[in-house]
Amino acid sequence: MRILVTGGAGFIGSHLVRRLLASSQHQIVNLDALRYSGNLNNLSAVSGHPAYTFVQGDICDAELVASVLHEHRIEGIINCAAETHVDRSILEPGTFARTDVMGTGVLLEEGRRFGVTRFLQVSTDEVYGNLESGFATEDDRLAPRSPYSASKAGGDLLTLSYWTTYRSPVVVTRGSNTYGPNQYPEKFIPLFVTNAIEHQLLPLYGDGRQRRDWLAVEDHCAGIEQAFFHGEPGNIYNIGGGNERENIAVAEQILTSLNKPRSLLRFVTDRPGHDRRYAIDSRKLRRLGWAPVVPFEEGLSTTIRWYQEHESWWRPIKSGEFRAYYEQVYGKRLQQA
Ligand code: DAU
Repeated sequence: MRILVTGGAGFIGSHLVRRLLASSQHQIVNLDALRYSGNLNNLSAVSGHPAYTFVQGDICDAELVASVLHEHRIEGIINCAAETHVDRSILEPGTFARTDVMGTGVLLEEGRRFGVTRFLQVSTDEVYGNLESGFATEDDRLAPRSPYSASKAGGDLLTLSYWTTYRSPVVVTRGSNTYGPNQYPEKFIPLFVTNAIEHQLLPLYGDGRQRRDWLAVEDHCAGIEQAFFHGEPGNIYNIGGGNERENIAVAEQILTSLNKPRSLLRFVTDRPGHDRRYAIDSRKLRRLGWAPVVPFEEGLSTTIRWYQEHESWWRPIKSGEFRAYYEQVYGKRLQQA
């Protein structure tokens, strides 16, 4: 199949591009704007692959999207392009609405006009909002609470409206907290791992007792692939790791693995509107034959080792634009802690 993967230079996107190429069954075009977290180093292993093409550009650019669809005779679209970091969405909400809602709208519309036979929207369990107990199913009410999750919910609803209105063959996946190699170090696990390697403080928000369900990136990509090829049009599929942990427990595990003292932990002022818990029921995707295979402890160790062995990947990132961002989000908090 000739597939357009958007955001293919990002964390999940680059793992997905490599996975799809490894099956030797598909032609992949990667459309990525190469914003701050897009990184072509994530794709160096496939840059010369005969079935792979890279196009730099923005999913909000309808003319460009249309020309890519025509030029490469694209049959299916997987939309991994997104603004994804909750803390950044608090600083610049408009950017999130633009990419995650408007950009998704452009892909849907150009895909419909061109007649793609498959469209998958990569979304998030955050659209269900804060869950005190139980597990969200695909039929549950949406209750997003951050500019990020509200924007993703907008993108999901727009995607599903293309099924209802035009019978466009769309599916939506909602993944839980994803971790693994190549993740931009603004996110919890890579931030804490790289800070610990550098013997820097680990800023835990609030009481550190928030809970997340951790999903290895390879399990997430396997779920996306399953839903893309075998999902029912108009349907949503949750992709959860089944590894619910308190943040503080994960932080302690990272310190122990790296042989670093607990004194590096700092409790800092909480994230505004911080959701305490996400949890999803993934039985619907399991019925399609998918199941996560990476145990969390093993996946975390592999990830920690990857960051230890790939300092040349993350050190330039942490010394660039990231510095100003880190100062803005953490500077005062760490001084006050
Ligand atoms: O649930 C899926 C979502 O997971 C994805 O859709 C998002 O794109 C992804 O960013 C992630 O959202 P979270 O807000 O849960 O991830 P984050 O890595 O930012 O934070 C994980 C938890 O760790 C959360 O409870 C906040 C906490 N945290 C995070 C950072 C960056 C800290 O305590 N300190 C930190 O410095």
